[in-house]
Amino acid sequence: METQVAPNPQRIMQFAFGFVPGVAVYSAIELGIFAAVAEGHNTIAKLAAACGCQERGMQPLVYTLAGLGLLEQAGDHFRLAPDTRMFLLPGSPAYLGGVIAHQTRLIGAWAQMPEAVRQGKPPGTVVEGDQDDGAFFAAFVDSLFNLNWPAAQAVARALPPARTAVDIGCGSGVWSLALAQAQPELKVVAVDRKLVLETVARVFAERMGCSERYEYRAGNFRDVDLGKSDVVFLGHILHSEGEAASRTLLKRVHDGLNPGGVLVIAEMVASTPRAADVFSNLFDLNMLMWTEDGTVFSATQMEEMGREAGFTRFEWLAVPGPYPVLLAFR
Ligand SMILES: C[S@@+](CC[C@H](N)C(=O)[O-])C[C@H]1O[C@@H](n2cnc3c(N)ncnc32)[C@H](O)[C@@H]1O
Repeated sequence: METQVAPNPQRIMQFAFGFVPGVAVYSAIELGIFAAVAEGHNTIAKLAAACGCQERGMQPLVYTLAGLGLLEQAGDHFRLAPDTRMFLLPGSPAYLGGVIAHQTRLIGAWAQMPEAVRQGKPPGTVVEGDQDDGAFFAAFVDSLFNLNWPAAQAVARALPPARTAVDIGCGSGVWSLALAQAQPELKVVAVDRKLVLETVARVFAERMGCSERYEYRAGNFRDVDLGKSDVVFLGHILHSEGEAASRTLLKRVHDGLNPGGVLVIAEMVASTPRAADVFSNLFDLNMLMWTEDGTVFSATQMEEMGREAGFTRFEWLAVPGPYPVLLAFR
């Protein structure tokens, strides 16, 4: 006889609290808990004292962090898990706290998703429309540097010698900076909103000792003259442009590349079948929430758009991180 097993509500209940772990990590960063643990404040009482918190508040937060595996517990002592030390300890070269903080600040707006789905466009402010002055990205694009730096270095190792590069929507300039470090003769044109160039890109170029080889072109990259170059970087740009604007941009990029030049596209890549990769679909929702036409493209779609723009050869480069990088050759 067949026994009917009732569906278990546990998975659904996890969704009810699904946003809480991210907020707990954000709270730990804001309160300086990871830094305090690294300094040796390794019990709940010591952490409460070091971070200026009540034990009544520190206890559930610390046990939540331990339960999530971000703190390791031995008796009543806690220490940082290896990935917490690398990615969440302020001052670490791989620090990702800025990404956590950025997403946490947007949580309230995410509750408007039903409206976005109903109308097929963002319920509130569009972050990359023509009216955007760069304030949205100036506030958080620096935190993407650490996320993309290992992949950018892998790309730099794979590229042939070049004299000129254009970094479109450069943000921190992570992709071109890796190449500029690897190729000391390279000159770079960095394109982004004025505020991003002044408060983020310039700072990183100076920090990496490359500023004298950088030229900055402020404005909307849909209009800015891209000139001629051997390499063009589109680092996480196409997804927010959407299909029509991406096709236009790819054509301009192709026509501006010197013969034999290469376009580097770093992107989330939608899986086939589409539902198989959850993160790229979460990011697609992110695009729905914040951009007019943004979407995550599949590898086939990206190659097809590149071919239409005139690119003739494509290579997918495996890099550290979840998605490969597309090299499109003119
Ligand atoms: C997702 S970030 C990517 C930054 C960097 N390329 C990276 O991979 O880390 C997008 C960047 O493009 C810039 N951007 C977006 N739309 C733009 C536009 N129409 N004109 C100029 N810059 C734009 C933003 O200001 C931001 O710095």
